[in-house]
Amino acid sequence: MSNKTTIEPLQGPLSGTARVPGDKSISHRAVLFSAMAEGTSHISGVLDSEDVRSSIAVVTQLGAVVDLEPCEDGSLAGTVRGWGQAGPTQPDAPLDCGNSGTTARLLMGMLAPWPIQVTLTGDDSLRRRPMRRNTAPLMKMGVQFKPAEADHLPITETGTADLRAITYDAPMASAQLKTAVLLAGLYAHGTTTLNEPAPSRNHTELMLPEYGVPTTAGTRVAEVSGPAVMHACDLHVPGDASSAAFLVAAALLKRGSSVRIEGVSLNPARIGFVRTLERMGADIAEHVEGHEGKEPFGSIDVSFTASLHGCEVPAQHFASILDEVPVLALVAAHARGVTVFKGVAELRAKETDRIQAIMEGLEKLGIDVWEEGDNLYIEGDPHLRVPEGLTFDSKGDHRIAMTWALVGLCGEASVAVDDFAAVAVSYPNFLTDVESMVRA
Ligand code: S3P
Repeated sequence: MSNKTTIEPLQGPLSGTARVPGDKSISHRAVLFSAMAEGTSHISGVLDSEDVRSSIAVVTQLGAVVDLEPCEDGSLAGTVRGWGQAGPTQPDAPLDCGNSGTTARLLMGMLAPWPIQVTLTGDDSLRRRPMRRNTAPLMKMGVQFKPAEADHLPITETGTADLRAITYDAPMASAQLKTAVLLAGLYAHGTTTLNEPAPSRNHTELMLPEYGVPTTAGTRVAEVSGPAVMHACDLHVPGDASSAAFLVAAALLKRGSSVRIEGVSLNPARIGFVRTLERMGADIAEHVEGHEGKEPFGSIDVSFTASLHGCEVPAQHFASILDEVPVLALVAAHARGVTVFKGVAELRAKETDRIQAIMEGLEKLGIDVWEEGDNLYIEGDPHLRVPEGLTFDSKGDHRIAMTWALVGLCGEASVAVDDFAAVAVSYPNFLTDVESMVRA
């Protein structure tokens, strides 16, 4: 069934201040870690989206008591009573993680210390995504998975009270893999160490101390020592930098715009897109204004920039722009010269194959885009005009849906986006938020 949404060009420049919903990665962790902890946590600013609701649903099935209510600003706030030392209860049905890789992969680590048998599953997209990266280290710690060789959900996990601490060299920089190993490591005797080829986002290392669990973290190494007890805490989730990236791109591409995005996470592991845009000549700056726990937050100022130019984004920056490559690729399509994103193969393992999705969409705009090895090349056109009558396919991927919506919002002609509803995974009010920044 086709489900097209028409996106009309904005009627004027974006201006004023805006806020974005709570950070998805931090919201998942706030819900999941609170479910593991002893006692009742108070959490606020939590993103109300399909992905976070998947995390809420599965921890509820496992016996945590979640009482989060929608607030006026659209976020969720309230309490989570964790299962603590008593452990999760045996669910009577498979746990459906929906579209959420973070839910599925973090759960694998959370379930590791408990001798219950749990089947994890998800939607069509999640069931296509690789899981062996997570099951492999957890098996070394003593967890059983059925089928043992499975790379895809559904997978049945049986944990053990006898977890072994390990030192693990991760084959890729993945915060979901790192977090699963660290969460299991909390219940093993001794020190569990995770070495990464490049630093992935560090929200877990920053948040676990809030639950009374020390972590040590270097640039590419994270450690926990077990057995440890997590205690309930109070925390507030800052705005999502990855969602902010779409408002930033809207302001950069819509002539005459100048906006400030407030209350947004400015964790350096997440704002690689600001660094990339600076190198493209964008008029953009961030200002750290405080910390939520150990997470820095503040504002981003950005203005329309007529003279963007292409740049090279080295592979070691990839982890810090991981979720922003689609929207950065659209900005690169408007810049003079070639932009190359190096070492981006991991994008094939996201909610859809994002390299293919980017290439298909940019080709519709008449942009030269190609891949060589693990690198993605985009030859921008500063005079790019959006032709009439284009339809883009979100491929059920929220970040692809928002990227192509920006073509219609910031260009000369409306576009249609197939399955635009996928935005509900991370930013349900994306369209109205952008439109409301056009002040009369
Ligand atoms: C996330 C980690 C990233 C990111 C995803 C959220 C997390 O994936 O793409 O959207 O919350 O830990 P990796 O596990 O590949 O780093």
